[in-house]
Amino acid sequence: MKLAVFVSGKGTNLLNIIKKHEEGFLKSEVGLVISNHDCEAIESSTRAGIQTKVADPKSFASEVEFGNSILDALKKSEVDFVVLAGFLKKVPEVVVKNFENRVINIHPALLPSFGGKGMYGMKVHQAVIDAGCKVSGATVHIVDAEYDHGPIVLQRCVPVSGDDTPESLASKIHQLEYELLPEAIKLFEENRVKVEGRKARFFLS
Ligand code: GRF
Repeated sequence: MKLAVFVSGKGTNLLNIIKKHEEGFLKSEVGLVISNHDCEAIESSTRAGIQTKVADPKSFASEVEFGNSILDALKKSEVDFVVLAGFLKKVPEVVVKNFENRVINIHPALLPSFGGKGMYGMKVHQAVIDAGCKVSGATVHIVDAEYDHGPIVLQRCVPVSGDDTPESLASKIHQLEYELLPEAIKLFEENRVKVEGRKARFFLS
């Protein structure tokens, strides 16, 4: 599959996907990186010779125009599959419709808890610690019209210890994400995911 990765920050998951392709774990290759603003992930993609697009929703007359511009870019680059890896804006409806069950997101907690609008970055980890949770983790899910809501594809846990800070928890979860997200992409490239209503099932090869 040719992948588009949507980012808004550092892009360590993006770099990890690129690495997993170079190492041969993933057949899929990143062909396009999209962000809502200039960020570290855009800089490293440019350095790696990957095509990039920066599209700030605020610079479009409407959400529809923003959506069409993203969809255009995906089509021009012949993208098959979209991965959200730290993208902080809502994916335009037209993209979700045109790429039904072909857009996934990674969230740094165990959904359906600690997700939704405004739940990103350290806010997620702080909320997990404040709730006294003994485990947290990462979730890869299919993207639908609502934030952090579509069918769950893969989840994995890490223990939360009494002296964890949002930063230490984020770091543990990032390590988990570097395994979980490529594994999820691989399931799709091998056509092993089937979506039935709210549930995504996968089949062993
Ligand atoms: C990850 O923790 C991911 O779960 C969340 O955003 C973060 C992105 O990190 N959606 P990075 O930019 O890949 O380092």
